[in-house]
Amino acid sequence: MADPFLPKGVSLLILESENAVVLWGGNAIASDVMKIVESAQEMRDTARTLRAQGRCIGFVPTMGNLHDGHLSLIRIAKRQADAVAVSIFVNPAQFGPREDFAAYPRTFEADCALCEREGVDLVFHPSVEEMYPEGASTAVTEKALSRDLCGASRPGHFDGVCTVVAALFHIVQPQLAVFGEKDAQQLRVIRRMVRDLHFPIEIVPGPTVREADGLALSSRNQHLTPAQRGQAVCLRQALDEAERRFAAGERDPQALKDAMRARIAREPDARIDYVEIADDDTLTPLDGPITRPALAALAVRIGQPRLIDNTV
Ligand code: PAF
Repeated sequence: MADPFLPKGVSLLILESENAVVLWGGNAIASDVMKIVESAQEMRDTARTLRAQGRCIGFVPTMGNLHDGHLSLIRIAKRQADAVAVSIFVNPAQFGPREDFAAYPRTFEADCALCEREGVDLVFHPSVEEMYPEGASTAVTEKALSRDLCGASRPGHFDGVCTVVAALFHIVQPQLAVFGEKDAQQLRVIRRMVRDLHFPIEIVPGPTVREADGLALSSRNQHLTPAQRGQAVCLRQALDEAERRFAAGERDPQALKDAMRARIAREPDARIDYVEIADDDTLTPLDGPITRPALAALAVRIGQPRLIDNTV
C-alpha cells in the first residue's frame, strides 16, 4: 500500500534537517512535513490509505483563523491519534443572511504555519464548490438539541453545521474528532448526530481556553475595540456569579439568570441575545428548581461582535 505522504513509487524517505534525520516509511509519520489537500477525492483516498495502514485519524474541523483554542484541540487530537487532519473551511451554510460570512477572517497561510508548527499531518482546505456540488439539495437537521439557545437566535445555523460536519466526516473518515466545549450546544448537537446517524467516530471534547481575565478565546474577539475588550469579561464574570450563587445553594434558574443579566447590564456596549439555564442533556430551558446537571449559557453582543460562553 502506497504511503499517502510519500512521492509516488517511494517507500522510504530520509529527511535531513538541521536538528534531525527522520526516517519516513511504513507506519511511521513524519512530523515535519504537512500535506495540504483541496480535493475531496484526494482527501478520501489519503484517509483510506492511512486507515488501511492501521493509523488512527484524529480530526479537528475549523473555519480557520486559528488561535490557541484551536491549537489546544489539535494537541488533544495529537495525543489520541497517530495522524491529525485539520479542515479549514468557512462554511456559508451556517451563516444567516445578516451574519458575517463575507467578513469572516480568512488567514490560510498563517493557519497552515500554525498547523505545521503543531505537527498536523494534513490540512483539508476545500472550496465552497468542492464541499457543495452544484445543485446540492441535501441537509442534515438535528431536531431537538438545536432548537433553543443559539438555535433560536440563529435559525438554520445548526443545519449548516450538521450538514458540513457530516460531509467532512465522510471525506476525512476520522476515528475521532475534537470539538471545543466553548461551543457547548454545537458539541452536544454533533454528538447526537453521530449517535443517531451511526458515524463510527468518537467525539472528544476540548476544554475552553481563556485569556488571563477569563474571556474565552474566539475569532470574534479581534473585532472588539479596546474598550469593548475590557467589557467582554462580563460574560465570564456573569457565569462566575451564577456559579457562586449555585454553590451557596441557589437553585432557582430565574434568580441565577437575573444575577447574570445584572452583571452584564453594567457594561454600556453589552446587548444580551440570551441568558439561559438549560437541562444539560436535553438543552431545554429550565423553569423549575435545578435538580439535575444544568448548562448556564449566554450570548451577548459587545458592540457588533456576538460572543458566547457557558458553564456546566
Ligand atoms: O466550530 C466551528 O468552527 C464550525 O462550526 C465547524 C465545526 C468547523 C463547522 O463549520
